Amino acid sequence: MTRSVSTSAPGKLLLYGEHAVVYGYPSIVTAVDARLIVSIEESQSTTVEIHAPQVKDSRFVDSAIAEFTKLTGVSVGRIRLTTSSAFSGKFGFGSSSAVTVGVLLALSKYFSKPMTQRELFDIAYRAVMDVQGVGSGVDIAAAVFGGTLFYRKGGVTLEQLKIAQLPIVVGYSGVKSNTVELINQVAMKQKAEPEKFDRLMKAIGKLVEQTLDPLLNNDLERVGKFMDFNQEYLRDLGVSCEKLENLISAAKRAGAYGAKLSGAGGGDCMIALVSHEKRKIVEESITAAGGEVVHITPNAEGVKIEL
Ligand code: MEV
Repeated sequence: MTRSVSTSAPGKLLLYGEHAVVYGYPSIVTAVDARLIVSIEESQSTTVEIHAPQVKDSRFVDSAIAEFTKLTGVSVGRIRLTTSSAFSGKFGFGSSSAVTVGVLLALSKYFSKPMTQRELFDIAYRAVMDVQGVGSGVDIAAAVFGGTLFYRKGGVTLEQLKIAQLPIVVGYSGVKSNTVELINQVAMKQKAEPEKFDRLMKAIGKLVEQTLDPLLNNDLERVGKFMDFNQEYLRDLGVSCEKLENLISAAKRAGAYGAKLSGAGGGDCMIALVSHEKRKIVEESITAAGGEVVHITPNAEGVKIEL
């Protein structure tokens, strides 16, 4: 019988604290039920055959394999590695991190080298940093642990938040953004205006801490207000764009509790917090403003073996 194993890892949405998390401030991230599947099966070829159409940069797969070999001593070969996905890399849901995590869990299972979740996180973070050189690891944390996390860079803080399902609408701006470019752009801002930069980062960090109470108490009005405040800071940081602003205004006009960009900015997705009654009208307004509504559910399970 041919040996095979499949894993699935969730995508993510940043609820609060993007960019500031790169500088050591806290963030809140939720895993989403759009999953990336990685399958490994035995192959006759001595090398690793990779079919990963969903992965925009195959270096993440190579890097995961290299880090796995470094850690376990297993020389990876005679396998075919395939990816498939219910979500497209275009949305900015963290497909590079999801694939890195999915590949590592699949390798550990296939070659019988068990890892704890913490080990999986640490090795996946190294693999992603080998490729990108920058980043907080927040996407990796969501992919490994799932749920909704209070998170600090490198996994210094990794706390599961026991919160009710957040009623979120996601709108894709139609503009593809590049996370590494955005992180570098923010770093330039730090050089150009260090005092303003510091003020903004501290304000975002404080806001994330203050959001915990309304989140844990399901106080949607305040949760939404904090999204609006976070968006103001992100706008000041220069990572919003006209398309995102249009979708955010449309959601707010239609009665959302709050709305903000989610992730690196410069494009990709915005999120809006809505009441059950307002969901439909907010979705319609986002569509009318030129956005694409993406249907996902937050608080999804972390990476797992698929049977
Ligand atoms: C991207 O999803 C979130 C950023 O904060 C980058 C990172 O944390 O690595 C912009």
